[in-house]
Amino acid sequence: MKRTYILTLLVAMLLCSCNNDKDKLLIGVSQCSEDIWRNKLNDELRIGTFFHDEIELVLTSANDNDATQIAQIDSLVALGIDLLIVSPNQMATITPAIDRAYDKGIPVIVFDRKTNSKKFTAYIGADNQLMGREIGEYIATQLKDTGTVIEIKGLEGSSPSIERSKGFAEAMSRAPGIEVAARLQGDWTEESGYNAVKAYLKAHPETVTKPIDYVFGQNDRMAMGARRAFEEMKKTNPAMKLPQYCGIDGLPGPNGGIAQVENGLLEVSYIYPTHGDKVLELALQILEKKPYKKETLLQSALVTRDNAHVLIMQGEEAQRQGEYLNDLHNKTIETLNMLDTQKTFLITIVIIAVLLIAAFVYAYYAYLTKARLSDELRRLYESERQMKQQMEALKDAQMDLYTNVAHQLRTPLSLIAGPLSKLRDSDELRNASEDTATLLDVMTRNTDLLTSLVGKVLDAEAKKDSSEILKMMDTGTIIPPDTASDIEQSLQLEQFQATDTTPQILIVDDNADIRIFLRSILSAKYVIYEAEDGKKGLDIANEIVPDLIISDVMMPVMNGLQFCQHVKRNLVTSHIPVILLTARAMSAQQIEGYQHGADAYITKPFDHNMLLVRVENLLLNRERLKKSWQAPIASSIAPVDEKEDGHAVELKVDIDNVDEIGKNADEVATPREDAFLDRLYAVIDSHMHNSDISVEDIGLEIGLSRVQLYRKVKALTGLSPVELMRKIRLNKAREMLLTTEKNISEVAYEVGFSAPSYFTKCFKEEFGQLPNELLR
Ligand code: FRU
Repeated sequence: MKRTYILTLLVAMLLCSCNNDKDKLLIGVSQCSEDIWRNKLNDELRIGTFFHDEIELVLTSANDNDATQIAQIDSLVALGIDLLIVSPNQMATITPAIDRAYDKGIPVIVFDRKTNSKKFTAYIGADNQLMGREIGEYIATQLKDTGTVIEIKGLEGSSPSIERSKGFAEAMSRAPGIEVAARLQGDWTEESGYNAVKAYLKAHPETVTKPIDYVFGQNDRMAMGARRAFEEMKKTNPAMKLPQYCGIDGLPGPNGGIAQVENGLLEVSYIYPTHGDKVLELALQILEKKPYKKETLLQSALVTRDNAHVLIMQGEEAQRQGEYLNDLHNKTIETLNMLDTQKTFLITIVIIAVLLIAAFVYAYYAYLTKARLSDELRRLYESERQMKQQMEALKDAQMDLYTNVAHQLRTPLSLIAGPLSKLRDSDELRNASEDTATLLDVMTRNTDLLTSLVGKVLDAEAKKDSSEILKMMDTGTIIPPDTASDIEQSLQLEQFQATDTTPQILIVDDNADIRIFLRSILSAKYVIYEAEDGKKGLDIANEIVPDLIISDVMMPVMNGLQFCQHVKRNLVTSHIPVILLTARAMSAQQIEGYQHGADAYITKPFDHNMLLVRVENLLLNRERLKKSWQAPIASSIAPVDEKEDGHAVELKVDIDNVDEIGKNADEVATPREDAFLDRLYAVIDSHMHNSDISVEDIGLEIGLSRVQLYRKVKALTGLSPVELMRKIRLNKAREMLLTTEKNISEVAYEVGFSAPSYFTKCFKEEFGQLPNELLR
């Protein structure tokens, strides 16, 4: 709104600066003729306007034609002039047009020539009667009251002509000795003077002998016309005496009356003042409603040969001044135009600057708005992202809840289904009564039914809404899990010696019933250890280095996944197969378990036979591996950096790469265990010659206790560390005997035997032949 206002104002200023003609006062000038006298007057009027910017002139000329002048006056009125300056050609004919203008309220200044009517505002002009009289008196004086004169009158019906005649007649009446031979009719033009005199001379041939002393032309032009006619006459009548010529107007300039007087062409002239400046001054007084004179008579003077020169000089000076003024005016106009251009230019620049500023401000606001919007957008994105995260968290929480519930429901079911199945298979009940068998069947059927129903319900609920499950929990439909403190059991570490041949299994579960149930399934074949959470499980695993671990996943303190990962990362326990036993039935959860290094995954509720088979398989695989190690070790045990595949394998394998471990599942041998053995061989190899080196020393170098080293080496190779060391030494010896020139004693000492006889005994046991038999 504000911007539009400023722009409008600027445009208005620009328009005003370009067009300030609107308030000018229009002055119409109606000239009856066009001649040097009128041109001088028009110039003076024009110069007068230089000092009055508010005035604009509209100049017209009728060329001595009444009809033209009437039409021009009417046109000026129609144009809306504010004032009319008129010099009527003839009084009677032009007066009605002047009256019309006056009647319309237009102020009228009559100048030089008068109207018939009183309908004019002011008159300004010279005293024509006085002029005629003074010319007459001058002639009378020159002729000393004796002589003959001719008068040539101006346009008939024009006021100067009438008045000048009247004045001239007055002077003649006072000089009775002077004869006015003729009063000829002219029309102010030179031609009319010439024609009138020529006609007179033709009609009066006696003029040749009876000369005319003076010719009075009512203006200089007609006097000069008369002169031309007389000159012509003299050509044919050389003896003829020529008259003197008198005129009126006395104009400056080379063809003006003053020069003609000075040059002797005219005897005298009379200055008929134009005074355009005064006419304009009068017009301004009227327009500005200031006091003015109704009739202004302009002063005048006779031009004779005595003052002609001075008047010429004055005229020339006036002319110069006029031209100078004109130049000044033109320059002023030029400067004003330049100023106007500069003003326009300046305003244009200001407008452009304002537009640019407005555009800049607009752009700035647009930028701010955009920045604010993008901020808001960013905030929206951010809150959307947070909502998504919350949704994800909610989903995770839901998932955890379902898993929890499943665990809670499936665990007690397992504890019913498992023992029931075991009970049915037990020897005591195999021969039970029919009733007992039926009852067992009913129990089994319904347990299976309940298991399947719980599975279906949980599957369906997991896809829908956890609130129903929560409601069930609130109403006690679902029994909460045992607290860990229900059946606190102390760790039952069994004697290490007693478990030497029977495989040891560690059960890690926070539910005491599960532990009892698993123990009941497994204890017939295995030595069982128990722990109630992952952390305690780790301690026991590290201590006893069991042959297999069965672990629950969801446990307090340390869950099964973390536990499994720790087992697999620990050098002592990394070889131990781990079975995860859990209610986490979804495949994504199982994958997670394998990613943490699990070797097998069994979901609750489980079939106890299936568990047994799984345990046996894992242990069998381990046994198979052991057998391959119990066979005589290949003739050369490559050093660490010279493995067949060309890859250096260090003990410190990438234990974080649990995916690799997971892939092996039932396969017991893993790159990690290979690496362990390679390292072990390298350590043994480096102490080959040292007969005093003990298992403790080797374990120390590898970072395992004696028991840990024993359990690990036994688990991987089926050999005790001592047996393994002896096997390696003997293999090395065999290789040396085959490839070097060394004798048996040398070789025996070099591979760490203190007595060659004992070496030979051992060699025979290992390879079935004596060392020297090998050399044959
Ligand atoms: C100019 C003129 C003058 C004369 C005057 C009379 O037009 O003819 O020569 O003195 O008009 O009005």
